[in-house]
Amino acid sequence: MKSRPSSPSGAAGLRLNKYLASCGLGARRKCEDFITEGRVTVNGDIAQSLGVRVRPGDDIRVDGRTVRPAEEVTLVIYKPKGYLCSRSGLTKQRLVYELLPEEFKTLNYVGRLDLETKGLLLFTNSGALHQTLTHPSHSVEKEYEVRLDRDFDPKLIHRLIKGVHLAEGLARAVVVRQHPKAPACLTMVLAQGYNRQVRRMFAALGYKVRELERVRIGNLQGLGLAQGQYKVLGKSDLAKVTQVSDRATAPAREDAEAQRRARPAPGRSASDGGSARGAARREESGYRKPGAGSRNSGTGSRSGSSRRPPRKRT
Ligand code: URA
Repeated sequence: MKSRPSSPSGAAGLRLNKYLASCGLGARRKCEDFITEGRVTVNGDIAQSLGVRVRPGDDIRVDGRTVRPAEEVTLVIYKPKGYLCSRSGLTKQRLVYELLPEEFKTLNYVGRLDLETKGLLLFTNSGALHQTLTHPSHSVEKEYEVRLDRDFDPKLIHRLIKGVHLAEGLARAVVVRQHPKAPACLTMVLAQGYNRQVRRMFAALGYKVRELERVRIGNLQGLGLAQGQYKVLGKSDLAKVTQVSDRATAPAREDAEAQRRARPAPGRSASDGGSARGAARREESGYRKPGAGSRNSGTGSRSGSSRRPPRKRT
């Protein structure tokens, strides 16, 4: 018997794909497929659109089976080099999901690391946490240890702080520190999350990143994880993940202020398309794609038996 009809799209409640994802059925996109394939019912009716919203007490089924939100789980793994952040890849490509036991394979990674980058990587089934960590308005800091192909010119540090133009926009570091005794090594803190941002920022200045490691997310750091080892986060670690520092939000505030100042006077057209294209061109000229297929080995140990090589400190 039908208790009540499903909420029409636009009404209050949680979007159905988000609800299904919270039940551990996979990423929201995958859950949308369940809906479009007509496999999902809400209070006995087949969900007809992606805009359907659900409320507490609704009976939601996939292939006739009732589904309920899974307990929220978030873990952090120390990703070794050579593992791809993806659910599927080319044959022989190693995927980060291989590092997780079966029970955690439905979690989604947040804030990917590229193939050649190692370090802290989060996985969660919490839609709220995912949103917090990926939404531009939340400037959670990420700290990286960088080793370049040659000594970095300290006079360029301010360029990284002021920002370099990438195709997506102005990419800025909130902190850059150069190792006094190893001028090719730097610590860089970002509060943005553009794709391969560290590598592309240095490429824009003519440098190539040889080694890259993420050592902090928010205030989460120093967990002593071996390569491929993970830790399920408890309350106190979770609180650290989303800690936002004032210096991280400052660039976003400045951006908003700059946009406000740049707003054209009434009657004048705002044509910044040319400069955005120029920025993309400028970036392209400085960015050479790192050699494809040069995968390095990582242990992928999830027992933590492998030893983590000493971190290059700056
Ligand atoms: N910046 C990069 O260049 N790569 C990463 O994996 C993360 C940040």
